Amino acid sequence: HEPFALWLRNAAQLVQVCSKRELYLRGDELQRLPVLHNASLVLGRDGYIKAVGPADAIQTQFSNASFDKIIDCSGMCVLPGLVDAHTHPVWAGDRVHEFAMKLAGATYMEIHEAGGGIHYTVEHTRNALEEELFSSFQHRLLRMLRAGTTLVECKSGYGLALETELKMLRVIERARRELDIGVSSTYCGAHSVPKGKTASEAADDIINNHLPKLNDLMQSGDLRVDNIDVFCEKGVFDLNSTRRILQAGKDIGLQINFHGDELHPMNSAELGAELGAQAISHLEEISDKGIEAMGSAKCAAVLLPTTAYILRLNQPRARDMLKAGVIVALGSDFNPNAYCYAMPMVMHLACTNMKMSMNEALAAATINAAYSLGKSQSHGSLEVGKQGDVIIINSSRWEHLIYQFGGHQELIKYVIVKGKIV
Ligand code: NIG
Ligand code: FE
Repeated sequence: HEPFALWLRNAAQLVQVCSKRELYLRGDELQRLPVLHNASLVLGRDGYIKAVGPADAIQTQFSNASFDKIIDCSGMCVLPGLVDAHTHPVWAGDRVHEFAMKLAGATYMEIHEAGGGIHYTVEHTRNALEEELFSSFQHRLLRMLRAGTTLVECKSGYGLALETELKMLRVIERARRELDIGVSSTYCGAHSVPKGKTASEAADDIINNHLPKLNDLMQSGDLRVDNIDVFCEKGVFDLNSTRRILQAGKDIGLQINFHGDELHPMNSAELGAELGAQAISHLEEISDKGIEAMGSAKCAAVLLPTTAYILRLNQPRARDMLKAGVIVALGSDFNPNAYCYAMPMVMHLACTNMKMSMNEALAAATINAAYSLGKSQSHGSLEVGKQGDVIIINSSRWEHLIYQFGGHQELIKYVIVKGKIV
């Protein structure tokens, strides 16, 4: 019969992350990830996982099969591809000068209010050609792949005006179609209030003009958009404008996935739970009530250790959230403020600064990150029937992926997306 695409043979450790088709892991479940020793995995030509188990059993089961390629994984570890649940990867013009200002004591909001920050990036992104934006975006995605990310959430949000938001979404759509990396696309037109408008006026424009246009393009199949995002923050979008925009997005079929409770407590977590949000990001300033509400609503908390680190914010209360049964996920928040695309470093920071264990960090960067994007039925673990997104690391203990801080390009030997070595 049909040959199989790939046989990953005799791995020292194979970290499945899930083995019962769980859609997410909560509480103590994150502490006990299934790890097989001396194990193998078979990928089909359709890009899906056909078998995973002890090396001997797979050897017997596939003794008469043929394979396009066999990789001897002795002394190496096989893990699911990493999922980056939060990035702003399409933009022109970096902000290295603002990094210097922040080191000298300026806060994120001081720079923002003075017309820098997101405003600076909006100006440069509006002026950039679509082709230029695609080319720098493609380069960034390739670097993410090299760092083990096989599925990434990508936001618009440096256009703000309808035309430039659509330009960004087209760039993301093109990457989804042309590149070997999974993409979840997010409309983030409410990333900042355009100059000369109030938050409420900006919300009206989004609800009355942006979302109907987006809906048309989604219906015609020109554009696929998965999520809607708002920067719910003091001095940006207040709770009421946030609620109106998110509800309107949900009404056209988008999953709610927004920035909340980052610099000030805003009751964003409570709002997200009430609206049935799939995920809320940041949450450095979440309230006790918010933690409780997210735990019962099955709304994922996407924690972003790089931002808290770079901006010297309060660390998100990962331990309290885990204890309350919140579905904790991780993202890099790659953007001109937080220039880090490497999920191994994000997991390391989650452990050292947010006091997560390595098991928790890996689950948060795989199955739970996939859940935050509504994709955990097909992504985020190594189980039969799931998409073949896999990384192979050159170490006999998987924890080296988190333990080693930087230099992961050397450690990650192979990155496989949908059964294809990239
Ligand atoms: O997640 N907080 C809002 N958005 C981004 C920052 C974007 C920017 O500064 O360009 C974040 O940190
Ligand atoms: Fe962000």
